[in-house]
Amino acid sequence: MNNEKVFSIAIDGPCGAGKSSVSDDVAAKLNVMHLDTGAMYRAVGLYMLRNGVDVKDLSAVEARMDEVKIDVRYEMGEQKTYLGSEDVSKLIRTQEAGDAASAVSKGAYVRKKMVELQQLLSKGVSMLVDGRDAGTCILPDATLKIYLTADVRERARRRYDERIGKGETCNYDDVLNECIERDKNDMTRAVSPLVQAEDAVVVDSTHMTQSEVVDKIVALLSERLEAMA
Ligand code: DC
Repeated sequence: MNNEKVFSIAIDGPCGAGKSSVSDDVAAKLNVMHLDTGAMYRAVGLYMLRNGVDVKDLSAVEARMDEVKIDVRYEMGEQKTYLGSEDVSKLIRTQEAGDAASAVSKGAYVRKKMVELQQLLSKGVSMLVDGRDAGTCILPDATLKIYLTADVRERARRRYDERIGKGETCNYDDVLNECIERDKNDMTRAVSPLVQAEDAVVVDSTHMTQSEVVDKIVALLSERLEAMA
């Protein structure tokens, strides 16, 4: 698609719904940057873990927050997440960093700083932002808001297959329980809980392939842009 108009897409939804991979593919099709905001919370989590801060102690986390220098750069169209001058893009992909991200993301000051940076990065350019608050907080005026979800058992199955594919040993029931726990954390936190934006289009991917989801989102954007023309 050749777009001259600046547009933005916000994709929210629970863990394991396929946000990251779908967002990568949609952004590539549309030739725009994809801002993976979860990576930024993971980098904050990693910083706290490395510095011996208890990630569940939000006052301790927030007291150190001004030291955390997160940067996002695009290298060959791919997002690289930096902690200071160190590229931590791979290091933040562990289960431990994900759990730490989930814990620190409950902090109001942590979220304020992340949202400010995310809004700065997405200002004035066509971008796809994925996260848990992309449509509700980061891009309240997004051209298109998607709430991407799937049945929790299907999300757990995808996570399980992904881990087995990476050569990890895990048990499906543990992965399912982790997903249920992560949903509970993300949906019940006091600050910016994961909720569906009122004007979001719900895409339930339980019975859809990744490419069907991608095509649907691209088609929804085309409709939206045509309606605005
Ligand atoms: O999408 P992910 O697994 O990389 O996200 C890691 C954690 O970060 C997730 O538990 C919730 C949190 N997060 C958030 O609170 N807000 C966002 N915009 C993105 C992620």
